[in-house]
Amino acid sequence: MEPRPLADGAADAVLAALGGRPVVLIGMMGAGKTTVGRRLAATLGRRFVDSDAEIETAAGMSIPEIFEIHGEAEFRSGEARVIARLIGEADIVLGTGGGAFMNADTRALIRDAAVSVWLKADLDTLFARVLRRSNRPLLKTADPRGTLRELIDQRYPVYAEADITVESRDVPHESIAREILDALAKRLIRTENDRN
Ligand code: S3P
Repeated sequence: MEPRPLADGAADAVLAALGGRPVVLIGMMGAGKTTVGRRLAATLGRRFVDSDAEIETAAGMSIPEIFEIHGEAEFRSGEARVIARLIGEADIVLGTGGGAFMNADTRALIRDAAVSVWLKADLDTLFARVLRRSNRPLLKTADPRGTLRELIDQRYPVYAEADITVESRDVPHESIAREILDALAKRLIRTENDRN
């Protein structure tokens, strides 16, 4: 794990305010949940866990294989089970698959036991990123950009229920992780001014 780069005590104050609760990253495919999540975890001195990777380990196959062999419904129930287990773990940063927060039970669990961060990105940014890899079964359509746009339209009103929203864009992951940390501090830590 990388050394914690912050000297200003923000990470320690956020950790104390979290009291062990997971920080859960939500957002579309290509939003940077895994890369930014890893960076945030290193900054906080926490373990990063990726729900997609956990599902793959539990199933003994890749996500495209799960979709192909068992179908999306089976993937979604496995995803909800895996996240319910992970939400019970202390001191983690959890990256979730893009569809996870659309499940009402998963949303309720995250709301009650964790702090959620929506990494929000626009269609152009997401599409440029997902084009680089072909591992997203939902985008294996005749018009992947149109599919991505439809998913954005369906999901963004629900993602907006997250505790914190941070704009994901093409800047170093370090900057986005720092913005998340600042937003967590603002949300979780009562300042002298708040108390007066
Ligand atoms: C999905 C996103 C993927 C993965 C699966 C379905 C979705 O995860 O869980 O392909 O429904 O948006 P990422 O968001 O990490 O790509």
